[in-house]
Amino acid sequence: MNIALLLAAGKGTRLDSQTPKQFHLVDNKPVFSYSLETFHKVEEIDAIYVVTSIEGVRIIKNYVDEHRLSKVKDVILGGKTRQESVYLGLLAMRKEINDKDRILIHDAARALVSERVILDNIRACEKDVAAATIYKVMDTMSVSLDDEYYHELVDRTHLYHGQTPQTFTYELIRHAHEEALEDHFEGTDDVGLVLRLHEKVKLVPGERKNFKITTMEDLKLFESIVLGEKEKKKVFDSKKRNGFD
Ligand code: CTP
Ligand code: MG
Repeated sequence: MNIALLLAAGKGTRLDSQTPKQFHLVDNKPVFSYSLETFHKVEEIDAIYVVTSIEGVRIIKNYVDEHRLSKVKDVILGGKTRQESVYLGLLAMRKEINDKDRILIHDAARALVSERVILDNIRACEKDVAAATIYKVMDTMSVSLDDEYYHELVDRTHLYHGQTPQTFTYELIRHAHEEALEDHFEGTDDVGLVLRLHEKVKLVPGERKNFKITTMEDLKLFESIVLGEKEKKKVFDSKKRNGFD
């Protein structure tokens, strides 16, 4: 089985708004619903678990009921850190799944994840036990030690941005979290925890539009992409209706 674990328990402090970013409305839909619906549409995804805040549980459960997202098995309370939220999600699903099932862990703040990226994660994790979405660094990378002047440039040949989903067999990712917990290791993502166990993690090419909404500028960018695509579809549909296609 392939199970998605959607992370929506963050506070969005860098967005500088009372409402966490996953609950902002973009084109009348909450941000979390974009990636949730994309995962739901993928036939190979068998079940979805969502972790969120206390207020989020009601909002997401209502959305799931209203839109009949039948693959969503549970909406549960997350933790103080992303890592804690993932671990709570893994514990919540433990009775329903097997050790060899694949878990796709995804940031709800990456609203524009594509079906292609999800499928490539599944395929990669069928071969290897761990796979994660990355995106090649295109800009010149530099280091500043004082946030004021350049120190040096860095060779970007082997540099990648980490994205999600990150996909692992259940037994591996649970073990990685338990080891991290025991060692008081706090990582920024799940790959970091798995690499500590010297496991190989396969790279899955991501996409630029699978960026993480972090600041208000990102939220505006996301909105402009959504509205732009909607406009494009309107033009395409009207052309089709008028027989130009
Ligand atoms: N996340 C979570 N539980 C947490 C922290 C984060 O489920 N305790 C989720 C977020 O909801 C988001 C993803 O992990 O979908 C990536 O985290 P990030 O972009 O850092 O989101 P926030 O923590 O909400 O933002 P910030 O760091 O600016 O407060
Ligand atoms: Mg955060």
